[in-house]
Amino acid sequence: MLGRAVRIIEVFGPDAPALGVSELARRTGLHVATVSRLVEHLVGYGWLQRDADRKVRIGMRLWEVASRASPALPLREAAMPFMEDLHAVVRQHIQLAVREGDEVLFLERLSARRAVINLTRIAGRLPLHASSSGEVLLAHAPAEVQERVLGGVLSAFTPYTVTDPKALRARLADIRRDGFALCAGFIDERATGVAVPVRGPGGPVVAALGVVVPNDAGARTVIPALRATALGIGRAMGLSPDENRV
Ligand code: PHB
Repeated sequence: MLGRAVRIIEVFGPDAPALGVSELARRTGLHVATVSRLVEHLVGYGWLQRDADRKVRIGMRLWEVASRASPALPLREAAMPFMEDLHAVVRQHIQLAVREGDEVLFLERLSARRAVINLTRIAGRLPLHASSSGEVLLAHAPAEVQERVLGGVLSAFTPYTVTDPKALRARLADIRRDGFALCAGFIDERATGVAVPVRGPGGPVVAALGVVVPNDAGARTVIPALRATALGIGRAMGLSPDENRV
């Protein structure tokens, strides 16, 4: 019962924000009658809400309970003032991401009206190898995660995405040495991502902070500001000055 309710909730996404019962049944593989009954319960709890046309969408109550005690909250609260300052200077996309298993999960994103195309969404995921934030998090992930990703399918978003495990392994070593990842055209040919690690108290990498800029915008010039911002976020979380490492 609980598993089925979770299946229903997990079907919703940016391309499917509102769904009817039969569409939910098709997408979850559950019977229409089962979906209908569970949707009724979930609407009752406020975890789903009904549109005027009877389609259902994620309820505000679900957002409320998930946000209130979210594990991402301390990181997000420490990061936002620093991200806003960086955004005021860079005026492109600034994003904060963590590793969730073998994927990068974007917690926050600040954008500008005329900023370059950006595929990342808040609460959206990408494979670890394909973006600058993902590469930073992969470079600092436990060895077994790195080996699993390097030994798995490395999908290409564009002809520039690095899909050769040997080349990716070398990039990860460079990222650990240089303290940043730069991905030109990996996700979309028109955009370059640059990201740096964010270290938490004691020094472990807890997140990646990145910008997405047009290819000709001199992505490297942003790196010093990105580093200073990442150190600020770490300090706000309790990183001590002697643990500061880029
Ligand atoms: C990146 O972090 O490298 C990145 C992410 C999203 C994009 C482009 C680049 O759309």
